[in-house]
Amino acid sequence: MNPKPTTTRRDFLTTSAVAGGLALSQAGLFAGENNLLKIGLIGCGGRGTGAAKNALKADSNVKLVAMADIFEDRLKESLAQLQRNREIGGKVEVKPETCFTGFDGYKKVIDACDVVLLTTPPHFRPIHLKAAVEAGKHVFAEKPLAVDAPGVRSVIESAKKAQEKKLTLLVGYCYRWDFAKREVVKRIHDGAIGDVTAIHVNYLTGELWHRECDKPFDTMEYQMRNWYYFNWLSGDHIVEQHCHNHDKAAWVLKGEYPVAAYGTGGRQKRTDPMWGNIYDHHSVVYEYKSGVRVYSFCRQMSSKTVRMFNETSDHIFGTKGSAELMPPHSITSGGKTWAYEGQESEMYDQEHIEMFAGLRAGEPLNNGLEGAHSTLMSIMGRMATYTGMKITWQMALNSKEDLSPPKYEWGPLPYAPVAVPGVTKFI
Ligand SMILES: NC(=O)c1ccc[n+]([C@@H]2O[C@H](COP(=O)([O-])OP(=O)(O)OC[C@H]3O[C@@H](n4cnc5c(N)ncnc54)[C@H](O)[C@@H]3O)[C@@H](O)[C@H]2O)c1
Repeated sequence: MNPKPTTTRRDFLTTSAVAGGLALSQAGLFAGENNLLKIGLIGCGGRGTGAAKNALKADSNVKLVAMADIFEDRLKESLAQLQRNREIGGKVEVKPETCFTGFDGYKKVIDACDVVLLTTPPHFRPIHLKAAVEAGKHVFAEKPLAVDAPGVRSVIESAKKAQEKKLTLLVGYCYRWDFAKREVVKRIHDGAIGDVTAIHVNYLTGELWHRECDKPFDTMEYQMRNWYYFNWLSGDHIVEQHCHNHDKAAWVLKGEYPVAAYGTGGRQKRTDPMWGNIYDHHSVVYEYKSGVRVYSFCRQMSSKTVRMFNETSDHIFGTKGSAELMPPHSITSGGKTWAYEGQESEMYDQEHIEMFAGLRAGEPLNNGLEGAHSTLMSIMGRMATYTGMKITWQMALNSKEDLSPPKYEWGPLPYAPVAVPGVTKFI
């Protein structure tokens, strides 16, 4: 989806009160008093707590009414943080009886709200999204949308169903909502650098968090606490984090996705079993039918002694120039460089502002299909680095590899060995 022209918070607040009631009653979307939209949060971690704040700020007539997390301590921490927040604390009406824990808590939150925020680790996204859409709820779903191809296929189905039911499905590929990036992409699409021939994307960063857990690594509890490091939960960092760059490449290329990918990767520093089974670096070349290539690098390593080169960037090359999609948000062509100096934006707020504006206007935003395809692009890269094979788009989309555990319950849970190219099979 190409984002719509910018709606400012001021425009939205002044029009929504007038147009909102009419649009909602026309669409028959809500029966709530005074068009109150009840929000539910599933996955009360860092991003979930942030998304709840963004949603509560984005619309004047919303309340957070229910929350679910697998762990009670995470839920309580998030709720306390939201209640303390001066700006939105008054809109938090979560009661002990609308706090849910465990693997099924999401169902009760979906029942209790009109708009649901899906912010668990990505493994659960297809399951939660399916349930929310079946229940007729509007959805904000964090990226990535899945960790394997069966998950992507499920999300594609849900996105289509959401479209049929006129439900919002807004995917948190948040860079698309940033004003500076929109202007750069618009200029690229208007021909500022000619035809795009190549994109080089980097997500080179340090190591991340680890959460203390006294259970062994091969238990559900350890893996749920440290979900990032288990492929079945996060999809590996090429999917969980680098997916932003893949989505931005798809945006620049007007929705074109690669036909094939190959690459290399491994884990050199993340060797202790406490780090589960994901890699710490991947390099992938994506090939396109048009001849374009995307060169994609991601690394999560830190050093106490060496100043490593870290960079999150999207360098775009065209027949007449080049562009930077991350700061300085610039375009160079014909010996001149232009850089964005327009209005600043807070992309996490902006995506919610536009989500609620669309919903209130009876024009729900749905970028679920493109979100699913961008997720698949990242998974395709992981398949390439794990197996050492060249993976086509069709192979990735039709892959039978299902990373789900046999059941969702506490206790022992063996996990797959670290992938070895040339040994690990494509499934
Ligand atoms: N758009 C962005 O820039 C951005 C930034 C950060 C995170 N994210 C995404 O947000 C998601 C969450 O990341 P985070 O950083 O908030 O992680 P987090 O660990 O802080 O939060 C995830 C929470 O979900 C809970 N959870 C796990 N499984 C659950 C289940 N089945 N039901 C209910 N709760 C469950 C966990 O206990 C945890 O509290 C990820 O998909 C991540 O990629 C996006």
